[in-house]
Amino acid sequence: MLDEIVQNSSLDDTFEVEKIRADFPLLMNAGDSLHYLDNAATSQKPNAVIDAISNCYSEHYGPVHRGLYPLAEEASQHYENARTTLAKFINAPDDQLIFTRSTTESINMVAQGWLRSRLSKGDQIWVTRMEHHANYLPWQALCNENDAKLKIIELRQDGSLDLDSCIGLYDSTTKLIAVTHTSNVLGTINPVKEICAKAAEQGIAVMVDAAQSVGHVPVDVIDIDCDFLAFSAHKMFGPTGIGALYGKAERLVEMEPLLLGGGMVDSINECNSVWMPYPAKFEAGSQNLAGALGFAAAINWLHENDMALMHKHVMGLTQYALDSLSKLNSIEIYGPRNAQQRAGIVSFNLTDVHPHDVGQIAGELGVAIRAGHHCCQPLMQYIGVAATARASFAPYNSYSDIDVLIEAINEAHSKFA
Ligand code: ALA
Repeated sequence: MLDEIVQNSSLDDTFEVEKIRADFPLLMNAGDSLHYLDNAATSQKPNAVIDAISNCYSEHYGPVHRGLYPLAEEASQHYENARTTLAKFINAPDDQLIFTRSTTESINMVAQGWLRSRLSKGDQIWVTRMEHHANYLPWQALCNENDAKLKIIELRQDGSLDLDSCIGLYDSTTKLIAVTHTSNVLGTINPVKEICAKAAEQGIAVMVDAAQSVGHVPVDVIDIDCDFLAFSAHKMFGPTGIGALYGKAERLVEMEPLLLGGGMVDSINECNSVWMPYPAKFEAGSQNLAGALGFAAAINWLHENDMALMHKHVMGLTQYALDSLSKLNSIEIYGPRNAQQRAGIVSFNLTDVHPHDVGQIAGELGVAIRAGHHCCQPLMQYIGVAATARASFAPYNSYSDIDVLIEAINEAHSKFA
């Protein structure tokens, strides 16, 4: 499906960007003074999400799974309906979708609650060179603690994974492969389905960091056949402070909760306790009802606005950015050069200008891009730089946002180079 969407992408599409933009009050308030190209860091929020959060507090707010009166029951029902909306969106069974605070929390839950007790001296955990620290540090810490080996799937020149050169990737000592679906720096889309298929043959678990893919491309956990998959609301037009973890049923049975407290225990005596079945056993404490409703509203907004069409527009923007940047002098662009092989994320550096200077000049012209290591220092070390500049696109962006970015880069070049 993704290939089909991408192949149909063209620069002269008739996508009604102004209609999409009109849903985003922050962008409408800012007008031409803001060209928001930092969507891989966090996305802006449509009215539908803001209203869902506001309505939660003004109409449905009550304790979730803790009260027998109508308002509490209604709040519980809304919370579970939101879970169903999320689960359906990634084709997961409802109860295998756990609400968390973020992708980071989801991955740490798997590291501490599932892998920690299964890792022995000499075992291997494989990560990729392009992992965000959130899908790198938890595994590195476990390896250090257990005398296990952290192995790295290196990259090819074009920013794709060099899976063929990974000797021992699918060995019996490998306990987990941690891989990002989409790189937050290179934009590379990784073959997670192929990795899961090979890993499953050897009984190896795969953790997919889908923070940059869910809400942008179709993600189907049954089709991918991953053991765990994590994502966050705030990168897909939903609120901050809420994320999700999908797990295969047998993994969720095996996994221990990280947080112990109210709402997750079935029975308790002076010495022992029995947890509730998942998902409740992983959701100790008062639930983030407003966050869950905002998350579900973001998904409904995506459905209502034709995700495939929006993705086609983002691919058009990405190709336009790649082509426009390629025409500049003294520029290095990282990751695949063809929008067909990547997401709407483009990292680059000017040879003679620090990316922070590019980011600052861009900011002065109203262009919001990120400059830094993007929480991917192992990747930066491989590229041989401390930081990059990065533009990342969303359906509310227009081609003129990219034109202003190019002007900003030219200005940074003439001022600092
Ligand atoms: N992970 C986010 C980014 O790539 C914050 O910017």
